[in-house]
Amino acid sequence: MISEFQFLTMDDVDLTDKRVLVRVDINSPIGPNGEIMDENRIREASITIRELSESKVVIMSHQGRPGKSDFVSLENHAKVLEKYVGRHVKFIDDLMGPAARSEIARLKNGDVLLLENTRIYSEENIEAPMEECAKTFLVKKLSPLFDVFINDAFPAAHRSQPSLVGFAYVLPSLAGRLVEKELKALKSLMPKLKRPIIYILGGAKVGDRLEVIETLAKTGLVDKIVVGGLLAPVFLEAGGVSLSENNVKKGKDFRGYVEKAEKLLKWKKDIFLLPLDVAVDKDGERAEFPVEKVPPQYRIKDLGVKSAEAIAKEVLSAGSIIANGPLGVFEEEKFALATLEVLKAVAESHALTVISGGHLTTALRKLGAEDKVTYTSTAGGALLHLLAGRRLPIIDALEMGKKLAEKQKLIKSKRF
Ligand code: 3PG
Repeated sequence: MISEFQFLTMDDVDLTDKRVLVRVDINSPIGPNGEIMDENRIREASITIRELSESKVVIMSHQGRPGKSDFVSLENHAKVLEKYVGRHVKFIDDLMGPAARSEIARLKNGDVLLLENTRIYSEENIEAPMEECAKTFLVKKLSPLFDVFINDAFPAAHRSQPSLVGFAYVLPSLAGRLVEKELKALKSLMPKLKRPIIYILGGAKVGDRLEVIETLAKTGLVDKIVVGGLLAPVFLEAGGVSLSENNVKKGKDFRGYVEKAEKLLKWKKDIFLLPLDVAVDKDGERAEFPVEKVPPQYRIKDLGVKSAEAIAKEVLSAGSIIANGPLGVFEEEKFALATLEVLKAVAESHALTVISGGHLTTALRKLGAEDKVTYTSTAGGALLHLLAGRRLPIIDALEMGKKLAEKQKLIKSKRF
């Protein structure tokens, strides 16, 4: 058990001969041909699986979101996972149907089976309290087939979805090695955060990041927020810059985002560092414009040089820097400029630095600066929610799962 958390780890229960269901998060960036672009989360997930060499192991994960291009099967993930686990990882294109259940029933000690993407199943795509999640088809169909549930999905720790919190309500549950490692590291870093604290937020998950910004604004655990990625047009529009439909979507969601950003700007204007200029793709070349003068036919693909310089300046006087998500379309070399320039400044700064998300870790590697930051996390949203002061649903669920382990007298150590 980790002392400050009331949940069990893999050290607390003898897992030999047990039927173990493991929820990992191997949600990875997917390239245009369906290829896995970054294997980091898969490599990290393999540590727990490798250790379960005397158990019957079944793995679940989500990948992407329905409707998005990275919402794909986990078939390729199984091949990559096998490489890191060092034993065969069988994949089945079923999640809880008869095919998956009979495959699970046939497993022997040491076997590893990866089920299909949990989000092919509609109930998995809603967030609900743990008790509700425990009543879903997924939990009802699969839980009778297992002795123990291990949650090792740290990057999804902020989601309250059936595969993440529902099983811990009905099965003895433990934290996997990645959850243990990340929580230990982050809990020890949190009291060391020095002011001014600067958040550099990019990427495409606008709704999620707005939630984090709201929490940070409420708790006051932030001094400056840099907005990049898809947050940039939302905040520019909210700040009175009029952008064309190429950057400002007409839909209800986008309007809702802009309204939230307007409220945040009204309330805490001084904490935001908005872009000064942006880059677009002009006939295949990078072209930069001040934010008020973006020609309507172009889509914003990166922050401009002036913006990157302003952020770098801010970074050099920060006490702590937390960065998540690329500032531009990082996959295209000419639009990786702002992300790389800002990361260079982050690596040079003497601040406490936390980097999260696949793109930024790849960018750090590109710069040869992996050892220049204090901590690199596999998580994006989960890390931001934790640092912003929110409780993570999987922690509550794991605490519930500990009670079931106690009831069934599964705990082997005398540490309790
Ligand atoms: C992440 O990449 O942040 C996690 O895998 C969670 O994914 P989600 O934001 O689609 O729930």
